[in-house]
Amino acid sequence: MTTIPAFAVVWKEGNGRRFILGSPRASRQAGNTKRYRMIAKDSLEERVRNVPFWFHSIDLGQGIVTPGIKTPAALKKETERLRFPDLRGKSVLDINTWDGFYAYTAERLGAASVTALDFYMWAMDLGEHWNYIQECRAKGVYPKRYETMPYYKPAELPGKCGFDLAHEVLDSKAKAVVGDFMEMDLEKLGQFDVVFFLGTLYHMENALESLKRLSRVTKEVAVIETQASEFPGFASQSVVQFFEAGELNGDSSNWWAPNLTALAAMCRTAGFRRVEVVRGPDIWSHSTPLALLKNLVLSKKLSRVWSYRAIVHAWK
Ligand SMILES: C[S@@+](CC[C@H](N)C(=O)[O-])C[C@H]1O[C@@H](n2cnc3c(N)ncnc32)[C@H](O)[C@@H]1O
Repeated sequence: MTTIPAFAVVWKEGNGRRFILGSPRASRQAGNTKRYRMIAKDSLEERVRNVPFWFHSIDLGQGIVTPGIKTPAALKKETERLRFPDLRGKSVLDINTWDGFYAYTAERLGAASVTALDFYMWAMDLGEHWNYIQECRAKGVYPKRYETMPYYKPAELPGKCGFDLAHEVLDSKAKAVVGDFMEMDLEKLGQFDVVFFLGTLYHMENALESLKRLSRVTKEVAVIETQASEFPGFASQSVVQFFEAGELNGDSSNWWAPNLTALAAMCRTAGFRRVEVVRGPDIWSHSTPLALLKNLVLSKKLSRVWSYRAIVHAWK
């Protein structure tokens, strides 16, 4: 196996000769210490194209970035907002990793070991799933639950191919664990210094129980990023919004959006000692001016609920 530094542009010609270009200094200045497994560029491009759906945009070197619906700019901004604690030398668990962007980020930030866990997205043919979601949107109906769909194939894990390709190319040592976090044996999973619970809480039918389970696997701190709702006039009370079907983003796997007070209270109830608010419902927390406008219009038109993404660090 050959690894090459991130700054290098490498390709292989038909005769097997390799060319490496790049500027180590520029790369170091950019803080780039990634290493990539060497794969011929055209072959890698084809393998990236053959993954039917990418959620994360992951830099695979050679100028190739996977075409995730979470764009590089969005992921950069989100990463900054998460304000990860120092991960150097830590054991990290990324719950519901999908294509693994945050697991690979943890490795890049110096984690000693990383475990990447997922189940639902890995269990589906995501190309077919995405087409179905688009059809539902066009028809104005809510999608059915994942488990009822013909492309739900947990024995085959068709949706894991993006994670696997990135794992190979990034020469990742992250351990992949296939399992539903709510069903699996937590004794076997173990405990981790830092646990990521990103984009996950609102998917949990039993949200409080999921936080209790999160607390059980966390030694130091859990980084929680979630859909949240703020109800003007009720900020000091614990209020949680419930979604019966696909009211939130047309996704029937979304159940709950707590306000910040409820989120903190739930974390404490689940066994965390201290909850640090990293991102609350302030007006500037919107990703774009359009998102702010949408929220202002919707909160006026509908029930005056303010939707946003909250981030907390929950400490043991
Ligand atoms: C929005 S993605 C978050 C991916 C990644 N953690 C991030 O923040 O970019 C939601 C994740 O939750 C998982 N998930 C979705 N529905 C679920 C369900 N009903 N039960 C458990 N996990 C679910 C999916 O497998 C998926 O990886």
